[in-house]
Amino acid sequence: MTTDTFTADPSVVTLPASQPITLTINGVSRQFNLAPWTTLLDALREYANLMGTKKGCDHGQCGSCTVLVDGKRINSCLTLAIMQEGKAITTIEGLAEDGTLHPLQQAFIDHDAFQCGYCTPGQICSAVGMMNEGKVRTVADVKELMSGNICRCGAYPHIVDAICDVMQLPDPQTP
Ligand code: FES
Ligand code: FES
Repeated sequence: MTTDTFTADPSVVTLPASQPITLTINGVSRQFNLAPWTTLLDALREYANLMGTKKGCDHGQCGSCTVLVDGKRINSCLTLAIMQEGKAITTIEGLAEDGTLHPLQQAFIDHDAFQCGYCTPGQICSAVGMMNEGKVRTVADVKELMSGNICRCGAYPHIVDAICDVMQLPDPQTP
């Protein structure tokens, strides 16, 4: 009987099952041990216990996972957590300050801009990111630039109302 011996090929790189990652989420630096292929979305929901960010399609098509990274909106299902080290990640849980809702959060309530609410965190984070981009001039711009966020309930008119209210654009319902 012979015994095979296995010799590791030093030219072959093996990925670690997990590795330490530090993420700054809503102003707090947090440490994780994550597989390098963990998406930012899964890191937030499964490991940071921040369930506000929603998983819809998990394919970059619905916008429900939208968060802000250094103030820019991003589909968190399409980026790896490890790619966001050193950046400022803001989720829906981080928008309120000192117990006061972000103006867009308040406007969504005031305008009844949700039904089931599943898409709402992504809609609000996306709207904040859109405002940071500074490209909106008209109500049509709002509709176009928010088109990456899908609402299964069809709450779009009230979502647009809420955003226009905060951006002080003309009432979209006014002919
Ligand atoms: S869950 Fe990320 S875009 Fe749909
Ligand atoms: S409010 Fe239900 S998906 Fe938008």
